Order: sequence, then C-alpha cells, then structure tokens
Amino acid sequence: MSNNDLKSNPLAPHAKPPFLHHLINFKNFLIMPIIVYFLLNKRRLHADFQLSYWRKLRLGYKVYFNTKKVYTGTDFKAHLAMIQKILSIGKKRKGVVVECGCFRGGTTANLSLACEITGRELYVYDSFEGLPEAHEDDLFPGTKGVLAAEIDQVKAHVTRYGYVDCCTFVKGYFEDTLPHHKEKIAFIFLDVDYQSSLTDCILNLWPKLINRGFLFTDEYVFTDYCALFYSEKFWKKYFNEVPPGLLGAGSGIPLGTYYTGPPYWGVHNRPESIAFTRKGWTGYWNFYPDEPENAGENIKHGKKN
Ligand SMILES: C[S@@+](CC[C@H](N)C(=O)[O-])C[C@H]1O[C@@H](n2cnc3c(N)ncnc32)[C@H](O)[C@@H]1O
Repeated sequence: MSNNDLKSNPLAPHAKPPFLHHLINFKNFLIMPIIVYFLLNKRRLHADFQLSYWRKLRLGYKVYFNTKKVYTGTDFKAHLAMIQKILSIGKKRKGVVVECGCFRGGTTANLSLACEITGRELYVYDSFEGLPEAHEDDLFPGTKGVLAAEIDQVKAHVTRYGYVDCCTFVKGYFEDTLPHHKEKIAFIFLDVDYQSSLTDCILNLWPKLINRGFLFTDEYVFTDYCALFYSEKFWKKYFNEVPPGLLGAGSGIPLGTYYTGPPYWGVHNRPESIAFTRKGWTGYWNFYPDEPENAGENIKHGKKN
C-alpha cells in the first residue's frame, strides 16, 4: 500500500514508526503461545476441528507471518479471532465462507487456512480495481480506484500463503455480483469502507447467512457505521427483523490492545481488532414502562413475537 493510499483512505491505519513497530512484532512473536492458548482454546473450537496445541501454534505463527508478507488492513489477532469462529461451526452446519473486500489477499490467505481445515469453500468478492465511485450520500467518500489490487496478484498471494483450492474469486462491483450469490453462508467478513458497499453486502448476503452464522466487519470504528447494526429502521425495512447489534462497536472486540477511542491513534493505541454479530442475536431496546403496549416485547431469533 502506498502512502497515497493511506492518506486518501479514511479507514486506513496510521503507519507505525519503525522502532516501536519492531518492538511490537517481537512482543507478538514471543507471546504467540499465550495468544494461541486464548484465541484457539479447545473449548472455543467445535469437536469436529480439535487440533493439537502444536498445530494451533504453527497456525498462529503462519497467520502472523502472512500478515507480514502481504499488507492487510486487519491485525493477525483479528484473523485468529475469525479463524476461531470458523472452527467453532460444526461440519453438520453447511455453508460457505464469504469475504467482501480483499485488497491484496492478506486476510483471504488466512481465512483460506481455516477453510482448508474445515473443508468449507471461500468466496472472495472484490472489484479487483479498488474502490468504486463513492455514493453521494457516503459519509467518508474515497477516491475511485484506491486500494486496487489485481486478481492475479491476490490469487498469487493466496496460492503462496494460504490454500487457493478452496477459493472462488468473483470480480465486479458488489451491486452487480452479490445478487447472484446462491450458496448458504456460515461466515461473512466485510471490509468494504463505504456505507454504500456495506449496504450492498448486508442486503444481499444476510438472507443467505445460516442461523447463528457469523458476520464480521472491519467497519466498526466509526459509530455511524456501527449504527447500521442497531438501526431499527434498516432491519425493519429490509428484513422485518429487529437489529442484531454489533459486538465490539467503536473499539473492536478485546484482543489485547490499548485502544481507548478517537481522536488519538498511537502506535500502541489504535483500533486493530474486529467486530461481529451473529444471525439471531438482538441489539434492540424493549424497555418502555411508560408505553404499556410496547413494554416487555418478546424477541426470538431476531424477530419480535
Ligand atoms: C480496505 S480494502 C480491504 C482490505 C482487506 N480486507 C485487507 O485486510 O487487506 C477494501 C476493499 O473493498 C473493495 N470494495 C469496496 N467497495 C466495493 C464495491 N462496491 N464493489 C467491489 N469491491 C469493493 C476494494 O476494491 C478494496 O479491495
């Protein structure tokens, strides 16, 4: 990623000063056994995918080094958290893994490692030409073509660092490609920058997500984006459901970092986590004692009873 890319993408992390960068890398390398113990703990993984501790440790280091080989906007611990959830879904629960917004394929390579273990297919959706023209209502309009990586480059990265045989790459803008997605989905990862792109992804993919399937997103820093996952209007209008909520809204799920929120992002104080929701979760306020007709509404699987 060039400096110009970093400057023109409001969601991109700040570059790290070299010394602290190396120090943090060294710390992560040293504490990998602890990271793996907590993030890939056997109680978190489905019985179908219990791996030996050494295999998990090897996986942890591979995921970590992959993020050093291929630039990715998300941290390796966020990748391990997603891998944990993919390994927590038993074989009986069918569904593919979908990634929207892959840039150079750093996250794709790591998600493909989880798909190799679980035998799931990985669908990778991207324009492979960078961001589209922003919608006029987008809160943080970027520049068309920024974050472009060619499909052959992404395939080469996944071939080298992941498991390309499980991958289907679908090129084009989400509004054109996602309506044709047919397969049931067990896990979704969205890193798409624009409100318009996020909307295209949710509208087209949420109906295909299996019950208790996971939806992870990197769009969790700006609370206006998080509001989508709590918007009663949005979920009522498009799905006739209550909103699912978002674990990690604003700061990401806790992965051992020190991010205390904007406006200051430092080397050791920046959002480098991930947020997620689950089909069937609710993020809905139903306590209105002064409105007896609304008080104590029951909610089951995202629907009001
Ligand atoms: C921030 S980058 C993804 C970074 C990647 N997840 C990583 O960890 O390196 C955003 C990606 O979304 C893609 N993108 C955004 N909106 C899109 C749209 N409407 N259609 C297709 N691709 C889109 C861009 O091409 C870009 O590759």
